[in-house]
Amino acid sequence: MTGVREVCIIQVGYGKVGAPLVHLAIENRARIERETGVRLQYAAIVRSSSVALGDDLALQAADRGTSFDEWTPRASGMTLDILDPVFDRFGLPDTTRYVLVDVTATAETGPLILEALGMGIPVVTANKIPLAETPGWFEQAWKASRKARTPFRYECTVGGSLPVISTLVDLMTTGDTVQRIVALPSSSLSCIMGDFNRGLPLDTAIADAMRRGFAEPNPLTDLAGRDALRKVVILAKTMGLPTSIDDVCQEPLLDMNYPDFETFQGKGMARLADSLTAARKPGEVTYYVGSASADGAVTLGLRNFPQSSIWGTLEPSENLFLFSTSRFGDLPVVVRGIGGGPILTASGVLADIIKAAQGQN
Ligand SMILES: NC(=O)c1ccc[n+]([C@@H]2O[C@H](COP(=O)([O-])OP(=O)(O)OC[C@H]3O[C@@H](n4cnc5c(N)ncnc54)[C@H](OP(=O)(O)O)[C@@H]3O)[C@@H](O)[C@H]2O)c1
Repeated sequence: MTGVREVCIIQVGYGKVGAPLVHLAIENRARIERETGVRLQYAAIVRSSSVALGDDLALQAADRGTSFDEWTPRASGMTLDILDPVFDRFGLPDTTRYVLVDVTATAETGPLILEALGMGIPVVTANKIPLAETPGWFEQAWKASRKARTPFRYECTVGGSLPVISTLVDLMTTGDTVQRIVALPSSSLSCIMGDFNRGLPLDTAIADAMRRGFAEPNPLTDLAGRDALRKVVILAKTMGLPTSIDDVCQEPLLDMNYPDFETFQGKGMARLADSLTAARKPGEVTYYVGSASADGAVTLGLRNFPQSSIWGTLEPSENLFLFSTSRFGDLPVVVRGIGGGPILTASGVLADIIKAAQGQN
């Protein structure tokens, strides 16, 4: 193919999503080059205190997965300085030759991403924390990206590999007015509440979500709803609302802060089961749902829906996003499916890397 564009990936994070991402990118790179004209190379894989530099090591990582151990200690900190060894080796003639990929779960990468965008380096992230939790960060990243037309892609922060952000951005860019988004963004809560809606006892529903890998090792993290809250904030910010995480009107699922899951089991579990049962009326299903409206109201809490509606057809762990817009009128645009999980998320991140490499914002 003529006009092949060589792009160097700097990937920060090599965990449950990061390891399969390297594998997917390398396994599919001949196809990606054939189909898109983008030749993906790895410049670096960066972990919390170590780094693997160069494509040869990434090839080995792709083969060996989590048993790959050719890591070199790296300088501490999370500013652009940590990329000096990358730029020394691969040069810095054209920053758009790189894509910086964040597959960590920390606020520490926030400054690095802003610096990269400021230099014109395209960014792809699956990490919700800076976007939703660091005040003003999303707005700064958005502005830096728009100012220099540097791609900043964060599709996988909300629906895993489902096309949620791209659908929303396409609606808005083409001049539609998004009046409201209603979302079931948490796979773990979808799994737990979906099983509960089907009549399983709550403790069995939680155990099932853990067994299927949807819930965190400590399911209280899921039940506290922070992950869903972050996703709703990212949706609201993408709509252009000035929402911060503290602005969301959140109805907590849990009646108090439990120090650990063991303490919650027993009375806490029984109280939550009782309140979920009391919330649901016959012929309805109950889910923990976020919504963001053009008038600025952003909420997260329990909502009931008729069993006969789309909500009654959801499989446990499915995500659902409904976009009500002026053009689409009474029937919202629907995005649904199981988007989360490490492999699906890695595939969504890879799709974002290809689009960023092609200069798509
Ligand atoms: N898992 C899913 O199904 C899923 C779905 C959608 C979105 N996501 C998002 O994807 C991201 C990654 O998730 P994950 O499950 O892969 O997380 P994970 O398994 O905990 O991996 C996190 C990685 O980040 C690295 N890291 C942490 N702090 C760092 C720092 N300061 N500098 C460089 N690297 C650092 C860790 O390094 P060490 O290896 O050295 O500890 C680790 O490799 C998260 O933001 C998550 O919310 C995950």
